[in-house]
Amino acid sequence: MTVRSILRMGDPRLQQIAEPVSDFGTPALQALLDDMRDTMQAMNGAGLAAPQIGIPLRVVIFGFRHNARYPEVGEVPETVLINPQITPVGGVMEDGWEGCLSLPGLRGLVPRFSQIHYTGHDVSGVLISRTVSGFHARVVQHECDHLDGILYPMRMPDMSKFGFTSELFPQQQVPEE
Ligand code: NI
Repeated sequence: MTVRSILRMGDPRLQQIAEPVSDFGTPALQALLDDMRDTMQAMNGAGLAAPQIGIPLRVVIFGFRHNARYPEVGEVPETVLINPQITPVGGVMEDGWEGCLSLPGLRGLVPRFSQIHYTGHDVSGVLISRTVSGFHARVVQHECDHLDGILYPMRMPDMSKFGFTSELFPQQQVPEE
């Protein structure tokens, strides 16, 4: 069990373009994914990208049954996604509240594509191909943005919808990060 420290906004490593993974099924890749899973679960995250722990590779994980940080949304299957590609389906966008373990205690209203098709590989290199919508689509777009050095405030058109979780949602029992 290794919980890695998470880089916070302002660290230049969060703004780098991550490199594709070329070797699947290696002990090093498995060890990275184990650390990412331990770290995400320890922080109650909905997802985590490798650059957030200082590893500049195109690797994301996401998924949860019930997430204390997002009590209002349904389940997202636990997924490892390596070298992901996203294609919007339909082009409709919708606003939704997002947080990020690299911006502890904050939330922002972010437009994302409502429906996407995504592909990628699991730790062994097996292809994953899904069409998803709602919060599942939002999480994937958020995590994959980390691979291109993009944090969610950079997607926000209205900075008046950005603030501390405890101020924006005072009646909600959201744990402080
Ligand atoms: Ni994030």
